[in-house]
Amino acid sequence: MGLSVGWRGFVAFSFLLYMGGGVWGNCTEYHMQMEGGTYSLTKEMEQGSTLVYHCPEGFYPYPALSRLCQLNNLWKPPPKRFRPQKCKMVECPDPTVIRNADITPTEAKYFVHNVTTYDCYSSYTLRGSSRRVCLPNGKWSGTTPICSRDTGNGCPDPGIPAGTSRAGDSFDIDDKVKYRCNANLYLVGSSERRCLENGQWTGTEPTCFYRHTYDTPLEVSEAFGSSIKESLNMLESMDDTQSGRKITLTKNGTLNMYIAVDISTSIEKHEFESAKQAVIKLIEKISSFSVNPNYDIIFFSAEIIQIVNIIDFFALQKEQNIYASIMKKLKDFNVGDRELVGTDLNQVFQTFYEHMAFVRQQAGHEFNNHQHVFILFTDGAYNMGGKPDATVARIKNMVYMNDTEGRQEHLDIYIFGIGTEIFDTDLQPLTVGTGGLHYFRLRKINDLQETFEEIIDEEDVKGLCGLYRDTEQYQTGEKRKVYPWLAYIIVKGNKCLGSLVTPQFVLTAAHCFKFDDLPEDIQVEIDDGQGLVKRAKALRLHPNYNVTAKVKDGVKEFYDYDVALIQLEKNAVKISSDARPICIPGTLETTAALKMVGVATCKQQEQLLLRNEREALTFLTKSHGQVREKNVYAKLGANRNDCIRHALSATGITTTNPKAAVTDNFLCTGGLDFHRDHIACTGDSGGAVFKNYERRTIQVGLVSWGTKVKCAMGEVVESDATSRDFHINLFRVMPFLKSVLADDDQDDFAPLQFLEGCD
Ligand SMILES: *[C@@H]1O[C@H](CO)[C@@H](O)[C@H](O)[C@H]1NC(C)=O
Ligand SMILES: *[C@@H]1O[C@H](CO)[C@@H](O)[C@H](O)[C@H]1NC(C)=O
Ligand SMILES: *[C@@H]1O[C@H](CO)[C@@H](O)[C@H](O)[C@H]1NC(C)=O
Ligand SMILES: *[C@@H]1O[C@H](CO)[C@@H](O)[C@H](O)[C@H]1NC(C)=O
Ligand SMILES: *[C@@H]1O[C@H](CO)[C@@H](O)[C@H](O)[C@H]1NC(C)=O
Repeated sequence: MGLSVGWRGFVAFSFLLYMGGGVWGNCTEYHMQMEGGTYSLTKEMEQGSTLVYHCPEGFYPYPALSRLCQLNNLWKPPPKRFRPQKCKMVECPDPTVIRNADITPTEAKYFVHNVTTYDCYSSYTLRGSSRRVCLPNGKWSGTTPICSRDTGNGCPDPGIPAGTSRAGDSFDIDDKVKYRCNANLYLVGSSERRCLENGQWTGTEPTCFYRHTYDTPLEVSEAFGSSIKESLNMLESMDDTQSGRKITLTKNGTLNMYIAVDISTSIEKHEFESAKQAVIKLIEKISSFSVNPNYDIIFFSAEIIQIVNIIDFFALQKEQNIYASIMKKLKDFNVGDRELVGTDLNQVFQTFYEHMAFVRQQAGHEFNNHQHVFILFTDGAYNMGGKPDATVARIKNMVYMNDTEGRQEHLDIYIFGIGTEIFDTDLQPLTVGTGGLHYFRLRKINDLQETFEEIIDEEDVKGLCGLYRDTEQYQTGEKRKVYPWLAYIIVKGNKCLGSLVTPQFVLTAAHCFKFDDLPEDIQVEIDDGQGLVKRAKALRLHPNYNVTAKVKDGVKEFYDYDVALIQLEKNAVKISSDARPICIPGTLETTAALKMVGVATCKQQEQLLLRNEREALTFLTKSHGQVREKNVYAKLGANRNDCIRHALSATGITTTNPKAAVTDNFLCTGGLDFHRDHIACTGDSGGAVFKNYERRTIQVGLVSWGTKVKCAMGEVVESDATSRDFHINLFRVMPFLKSVLADDDQDDFAPLQFLEGCD
């Protein structure tokens, strides 16, 4: 990894000097010492050596992070007599930028281990962390606190992350907000975000980094892991609709992975080994998926060293075990005595571009169906070949085929900035892709292997909850890929809906069953292409569910805790893009699906999913093989009381207290103020009430009961002024879900991992 831009200039310059007598000798250690820290040298005191300063955790080297021994035997930057090198305490970006909140304590600067707490002004509600600690890597723990009065129109308040300033205070559809970082900081993430029709902001939340701020391996593996898993899972069978004609393309899509590792100048031998091991680890992890990507792997400095060429994957006679051969090529590769002078990043992209053109030619029409993932490891200090931006633009054009909006999912460029001095402003604009973060900053190459070690586990690949395909691609009949978690439940002729929540459990309403129903009376239908009907093995109703519990209090039928879990036989459901669990609250996987990096709580998931006083939700209805969506708004916060009071008009309710029938465990939808909601019909019971978040579906509720019977099975009917439906809020039945799904004392199924403190 080259340190100085203009390195090539020095080489030429030195050559001239050499001819004329030359500059012999070495740099000196004079004035190199640092108070409170140490330094290391890549090539001792020789020309071209890099001196890297090290400080204890919670401190960073100042004023320089590193120095380069130039060909004139002087350090760049030179040490300054009156600004001695020292270790400074790590600071975190200014958190007082938050609006509508009191922050304690209020300081001019915040240092490592300082704790801040946030209190919203009255009538504002908090999303994000109420307490944050300044971490040794220069970031605040938790997530950005946001105090807002979200209305349910447009998008939620996107907040003001620490260290930023925001332009734009209106959050309606199509509104934009722009972010800038305060002095000395630079921005990672989106500097501009737009509010989309689905109520979500484009891009990712911006973060302000100091030059000494790094991502931890855990942060990277969570963020990169969830994105790459989505790419890999999108590649199972794929249908495409083109000019109204549905064509089924090959069952297994094609993934092309282009990997490049910068091995120029300052890298030491053990670091190179480490980079190589990290790439091997990454490929091993990817191979645990059912996709077999084509690989293009290069190491580079000014020279491109091709390790694996994607062209080989299109050879007439494919090697028998191409995966083993990639691994061997990687393991056998050694830098040897190569002169690794200079860095040419543009040539890397140029090489990939040419290979991609070859792939396109070979693939023909199939190329439409290819997915391209680039992963680059570099410090970005390229000094030859010019800016790569134009080449990246050509790569985009080739993949997007003039359909920038529609084909964005086909290209991702991830960049891992690694090193003491990273050229972020050059590198970050080269990232491409929707969804999560694409730019990461690591201090040491050694951190990479740890990152990939954590990244992808075979277990979570199988389950990857809630991933779905877009409706637009599947306009006709076939909706399995849009709702791969959908289950039909038939109990002695009674019909309900349910949702697959793990490969072996279906969640539905308890009232679908009678007291004496046995597992063998239950028929569960899940269309996974392996036989529609699945056998139930066990039935678990919520222990507090008791319809007659409040007869005396004027509630003839009481539906509190109306939840049940059906356990299916082992391997009854074949997990694929046709049959896959939905995400449920409180699980680690849902934290990843919501792109909540770091430690998250149930409460934070709830604050994100049910944040508006009117929250848009969806449930399904089915008749004659047709699945249709019903769109509703849950009335939360101040709107809830007015919604639930209509429960009193339901037959069998004689109490005057709506809360007797509709406890806090219910979500309330229906009515026609603000939005004419759909209403639940017979047969919709037990179905998931859900919300799509980016490419994942999260279940937040379950259809339980309503005030009026307005429709027979499978109809989509609009609410009138007083009809209301009540859905069990899954956040309120966490102990039950956890007691069954996280049960560790059995060998029947893999327990689901729940977050702490979700009771
Ligand atoms: C420069 O340093 C290297 C290693 O520290 C040493 O072997 C070499 O003799 C030095 N050269 C001069 C000219 O001092
Ligand atoms: C923040 O940390 C600095 C450095 O450790 C310390 O001097 C200061 O008292 C801390 N401030 C608070 C409010 O804890
Ligand atoms: C898809 O991949 C699987 C597993 O690698 C393989 O068995 C199957 O034959 C492939 N299908 C097609 C149509 O290529
Ligand atoms: C994209 O548009 C340009 C200019 O309109 C056209 O020349 C080119 O053929 C188009 N490419 C594709 C793949 O459609
Ligand atoms: C349901 O509640 C009623 C009224 O409190 C009680 O008599 C009955 O035993 C309960 N049933 C169960 C199964 O707990």
